[in-house]
Amino acid sequence: MSLTLHSILGDEALAAFDAPGAVARGLPAAAYTSEAIFALENERIFAESWVFTGLAHELARPGDVVPVTVAGKPVLLVRDADGEVRAFHNVCRHRCLKLVEDPCNVGPTIQCPYHSWTYKLDGALHLAPYFGGHDPRALPDGFDPAQHGLVPVRVATWHDWIFVNLTGDAQPLEEVVAPLLGQLDGLDLGRMQHVVTVDLGEIAANWKLLMENFIEPYHVPFVHAATTEQPLTDHYTLNEPGCLGCAVDVSSTAKQDDTLSADSRYLTIFPNFSLGLYFPDQVGVHLDVPLAPDRTLQRRAVYSLKPEPPSAEEAEQLATLWHDVHVEDQVICERLQQGRESAVADDGGVLSPVWEDSVRSFQELVLSHLR
Ligand SMILES: [Fe+2]
Repeated sequence: MSLTLHSILGDEALAAFDAPGAVARGLPAAAYTSEAIFALENERIFAESWVFTGLAHELARPGDVVPVTVAGKPVLLVRDADGEVRAFHNVCRHRCLKLVEDPCNVGPTIQCPYHSWTYKLDGALHLAPYFGGHDPRALPDGFDPAQHGLVPVRVATWHDWIFVNLTGDAQPLEEVVAPLLGQLDGLDLGRMQHVVTVDLGEIAANWKLLMENFIEPYHVPFVHAATTEQPLTDHYTLNEPGCLGCAVDVSSTAKQDDTLSADSRYLTIFPNFSLGLYFPDQVGVHLDVPLAPDRTLQRRAVYSLKPEPPSAEEAEQLATLWHDVHVEDQVICERLQQGRESAVADDGGVLSPVWEDSVRSFQELVLSHLR
């Protein structure tokens, strides 16, 4: 194990985390507050994994580009001329300027605003004007444009969801999503129609707290009393290799027509993909982007599995509903973060063996990557 990890998290806290017993301890507070741990997570978790980074429908036309942050690095998603989603390091090969600042349609080429170096949508360098002299097409001797295209990043699209793997050596995405697919009871995600995306902004909490909160059902009847009537006893955790989460099979006595009283599945793929499935016909996906130890961008894309196209009223109603539910979770996650400033949190608190065993597995995954 690296020196950094030991010195920041503390020998005692790590020993407590590893100690056997029915009631496990959580990750030490510094795992959520330390810049050094955040940097280590970017290097050992986010660079090496398939990271959920974007929504394919937001790159509908050739030339659509969306700048994203993956493992703290600037990456550019591009819909190319053939309709494929590509990803590149979002950096000009001339002076290494961050190439694209905001989502837009760039047309047939991507142009750097600094000296107008221009790239085709497949990343090839198209123009480096005046680079070699007074002629706009002049290139210096020995300069090979083929060696100065945008640097590609491994990317894969699964339904509406774009994943990026910076190191390029994660196992194939199909293998990574297979355990989650196994939890869908044969439901066909190919029928999904995007309804609305709720922009939840920047949340003052570590990305892991958002994931842990999604994975455990324990808080649901307490935090979401205003938006759901699911009793805790209808919930259970899903603690499967490759897919952590929880589920609700609503007992018939409690069953309502209300969306949030439906049987549901809350499924994650490590590190940052979370999918909520509400039988029979709704899916929601969180796009979490870690920005700092205590800051995470969050959006939620909502999809319908109904045969008819979603109406504007439905979109508005679902946007309001999910915004309200998320605010309930956000307030909690931000207070979880604030609590970690206290020395009381150094030993990580305790986890229920019944309701938070999947949280424990998530934390073990985090630590095993860092180790
Ligand atoms: Fe919640």
